[in-house]
Amino acid sequence: MMAFEFYNPTRLIFGAGSLAQLGKAARPYGERALLVIGRGSVKKSGTFDRAVSILEEAGISVLEFSGIEPNPRLSTITRAAEVAKKGKCDMVIGLGGGSVMDASKIIAATVFYEGDPRDMFTRAGKVPRLPERALPIITVPTLAATGSEMNNGAVATIDDEEKLKTYVRAEVLYPRVAVVDPELTLTVPKDHTAYGISDILSHLAESYLNGIDGTPIQDRLAEGVIMTLLEWGPKAVENGNDLEARTQVQWASIVAWNGWIQAGTDTTLPVHMIEHTLSALYDIPHGAGLAVLMPAWMRFAARFRPDRFAQFARRIFGLPATGRDKLSLAIEGIDKYEEFLRSIGCPTRLSELGIGKITDEMLFHWAEESLRVRRDEEGRLPGRPPLRKEDIVEILRMAL
Ligand code: NZQ
Ligand code: ZN
Repeated sequence: MMAFEFYNPTRLIFGAGSLAQLGKAARPYGERALLVIGRGSVKKSGTFDRAVSILEEAGISVLEFSGIEPNPRLSTITRAAEVAKKGKCDMVIGLGGGSVMDASKIIAATVFYEGDPRDMFTRAGKVPRLPERALPIITVPTLAATGSEMNNGAVATIDDEEKLKTYVRAEVLYPRVAVVDPELTLTVPKDHTAYGISDILSHLAESYLNGIDGTPIQDRLAEGVIMTLLEWGPKAVENGNDLEARTQVQWASIVAWNGWIQAGTDTTLPVHMIEHTLSALYDIPHGAGLAVLMPAWMRFAARFRPDRFAQFARRIFGLPATGRDKLSLAIEGIDKYEEFLRSIGCPTRLSELGIGKITDEMLFHWAEESLRVRRDEEGRLPGRPPLRKEDIVEILRMAL
């Protein structure tokens, strides 16, 4: 039976042109903002200048921190937190993709965190010391993918001798406001648009396929968003200026990972844990890594849960079920999922990620790294089924 508590306090201001409301939205939180950006896309598009003047018009002075890298590093984030502290900032505004928004959340918490900020992150065998205070966080996404704008998670690579990409989830990391203007995503190139769609799909499909049984409402919610994305995602890839398509994809990214779909499902995201290892080691875009790993994991996991995977095939892709055994129906659904990813331009094989020659030793290393983030009492990565090191290696082999 489902039992759960749900909490998500983020005020969402959504729609084309909503950037104009940033000043009004931020003003209640103070007069000085650290405006965090990535490596220049928002300057090139003019979004940065617009955001600064909107904030200044509202009486908010802006201190800039630029240079958050994709797959952000904790060392960069710690530097930014020093800037926020010295600059006496009242709030942190993340203007960019998931990397920038995640970094902004961790910056906001690091400002008050006593001790080593690594301790707030999930690491197997260690109880995280979650942040209890953070500067007010405002998110302004420029790329539809992670859903970070309206959730309490943040992912970063601890880049000391450990080099581990892991996450923190804490109540204080919920943004106070998310100003979500799909017009800001019009400049996202085709490849990152497709990777974003792959990430959104993974949040939905992983939740759907790893959750507990008996969640009919969550199932239908997830199916609805997946099907909407299968319809609108290709339009956004095909024509980046299609604002309606950008809008639907942006909304899907929020709904997929703001907690609604996961409520009561007790789900975990094992494929995400494995992908984080790849993006930490090889700086691969998160959604590209997921496009490679998801179909392989699905083929592995379908054997353990053919009913659910057959339901996925039937309901999402409308595949006929009569006279079919569940596993072959499930596999056909997975083939369709993979075909979709390819059709929008995502890689679906490890060999396409530019890693170079992949050895068996590397596969074992990646499996061990993934288990350093999370493992259950029996040393397995949580999910359905829980994955032993050998299982992760098998999945990686299936993705070669
Ligand atoms: O750095 P800039 O110059 O801004 O360029 C970025 C970057 O190169 C560019 N970009 C962003 N908006 C653009 C744009 N280019 C043109 N026009 C725009 N409007 O896109 C590139 C990728 O950006 P990034 O932020 O790295 O991508 P994404 O949004 O996919 O975020 C990925 C990060 O989020 C984490 C991932 O692990 C990864 O570190 N995740 C965060 C989650 C969360 N907080 O809930 C959940 C996810 O599962 C994920 O793990
Ligand atoms: Zn993701």
